[in-house]
Amino acid sequence: MQMLNRLEQARELDGVAEKVQAVVTGTIRSQRLRDLLHGTWLGHPLHPVLVQLPVGAFVSAAVLDLLPGMRNAATKLIGLGVATAPPAILAGWTDWSQMTKDRQRVGLVHASANGVAVALYAASLVARKRGRSGVGLAFAGLSVAGLGAYLGGHLSYARSAGVNQAAPEIARVPEEWTEICSLASLPDEKPVVRSVGAVPVLLYRTASLVTAMIERCGHETGPLGNGEVVGSGADACVVCPWHGSTFRLTDGAVVHGPAASDQPLLGVRVKAGMVEVRRP
Ligand code: FES
Repeated sequence: MQMLNRLEQARELDGVAEKVQAVVTGTIRSQRLRDLLHGTWLGHPLHPVLVQLPVGAFVSAAVLDLLPGMRNAATKLIGLGVATAPPAILAGWTDWSQMTKDRQRVGLVHASANGVAVALYAASLVARKRGRSGVGLAFAGLSVAGLGAYLGGHLSYARSAGVNQAAPEIARVPEEWTEICSLASLPDEKPVVRSVGAVPVLLYRTASLVTAMIERCGHETGPLGNGEVVGSGADACVVCPWHGSTFRLTDGAVVHGPAASDQPLLGVRVKAGMVEVRRP
């Protein structure tokens, strides 16, 4: 763990990270492609889904390499792993480009380890095609991929990368109806921030309804209350000021990433001129 703490604080990696980030954001410019790679359409990040194919193929190949008479099958699986790695790598870099600095430092080593692993597997494939063993290269690839997987696990489970950061806020909202403000104090079609307990809530009023959204962005807790509003009425969206995630104000749907999850809404009712909210 000490090694991981040191890695998270290794500011000397920031120069490289900034250069790589400029390349990634300069290369993947299309909003549609970015949304596709972030997993905005899927409801959670696409990267962990895509890594299943190369990881599964490489691990299975390692098992087959240890069994007699299975060399051809192992070679085919390594070919499958090398062929399916690029989409997973692309999705990973896209997510990485919108992370905080401490996560980016760990992510940089995670991605580098996996890049080396794929290169070792590609070298193993070439060696096999030329009639050489290639098994040593494949197991070297598996070992380096293990380090990459360890760092990826740390990013997800210890540093909450790719997790919906707004979800824990829901549990802090009272289960019973709780007054948050008067209906008269809410302007038409202009979101305002109020709090229920210690939880900031973004309230939005149209002619026919009032919605209450967790105000901290699900991507990296950016303040949606400071975000720009685009569109109007039922189609109005708030754009997070930190990385541009875009959520529809009337139902919390994520329209553009990097967030991959909808922004949580609270239950809302109006009683005696007062707006009340509760945990959904
Ligand atoms: S914090 Fe990253 S998009 Fe909102």
